[in-house]
Order: sequence, then structure tokens, then C-alpha cells
Amino acid sequence: MLRLRAHTDRSWLDKVLPHLDQLLVEQAHLEKKAASGALTFLFRYPEADAMQRPLSELVREELEHFEATLGFLAARGLRFGRQKPGPYAARLLEIVRDDEPARMLDQMLCHAVIEARSCERMKLLAEGLRDVDEIELADFYHGLVISEARHHGLWVQLAKTVFAADEVEARLDQVLEHEAVVLARATELPRLHN
Ligand SMILES: [Fe+2]
Ligand SMILES: [Fe+2]
Repeated sequence: MLRLRAHTDRSWLDKVLPHLDQLLVEQAHLEKKAASGALTFLFRYPEADAMQRPLSELVREELEHFEATLGFLAARGLRFGRQKPGPYAARLLEIVRDDEPARMLDQMLCHAVIEARSCERMKLLAEGLRDVDEIELADFYHGLVISEARHHGLWVQLAKTVFAADEVEARLDQVLEHEAVVLARATELPRLHN
């Protein structure tokens, strides 16, 4: 799915499903981070005019997801707050090169791959939630799956407005290879991004 090199094992689902409270808090953090990541691009690269409107729309959509997740937390009597994140994203970003414009390309492709992995895992989660009769939450995650797949495509497509398509594809292959290595080092933390 979405060219991911490694697939999430069903054992991941069994590990996280008993910790729905933690997953929902993480989900709120992830949505806020996704919004912040897109907003950072708007500020850092104002000269990339083709990206301005799509990224602005992305910021708003991710914040809508954040607010919707806060709604689920509140409905379940859970509080949003600080949480120890899994190491996944930080490890993935180790591939980002220091100098521009390589840094820009690498960060866009890391965003794309994070969206793809979120999409893959949220699909598993939606199926698992349906099996335990958490229908409303399953529907919510199912809606997010569709958005994340679109966001994956958006980051790749935007990268191609700045960089040559073959350069984007070649680097995406490397980021995907790196992501598979990161995934193999996953921790036992009950997280979408562990
Ligand atoms: Fe989102
Ligand atoms: Fe997203």
C-alpha cells in the first residue's frame, strides 16, 4: 500500500487496541504536528508559490482532525495532555540532509511517508475497532485513512512542483527504504508511530 516497503504486522494491532486512551491522545498530537509541519513549510518557503494554497488547506484540514480527535477524547472523559512520543518520526527524520534544497525535498518526502504509514495503520485500527464494536471510532479512523492517503499523494505531488520528477522518485525510494529500517526498530510503546 502506498509503496511502503514493510507492512505492519497484525500483532501491532493486538498490542495497541487495549490502549485506546493513549492512542487517541497520540492521535490528537499527530494531527497537531501534521498541521504544524505544513505551516512550517509555508513560512520557510514563501517563494514556492505553487505550494502556498494547498499547504494552507492542509493546515486547516489537519486542525479539523485535531479538533475532531479532541471531541472523541472529551466524549470518553479523557484529557489531552503531554505524552511520551514514540521514536518513529525522529528516527525517520534522521535521513533529512542539512543543506537546501535537499533539506526541503527530504522533509516533504518524510511527510509523505509518515502520511502513508499513518494511513496503513489507521486502516488496521479501523478494522480492529469494528471487530470490538467501537463503530463510531472505527468510522472516524476510516475517514482519516482516506485523508491520509490523499495527503501522501499531495506531498509527493508538491515536491514535483519544485524538483524534477525523477529526482523525487529516486529520493522517495531511499526514504521508503530508510522507513522500513526504522519500522524494524519499533518500540513496544502503544502508539501509531512507535
Ligand atoms: Fe490528519
Ligand atoms: Fe494528514
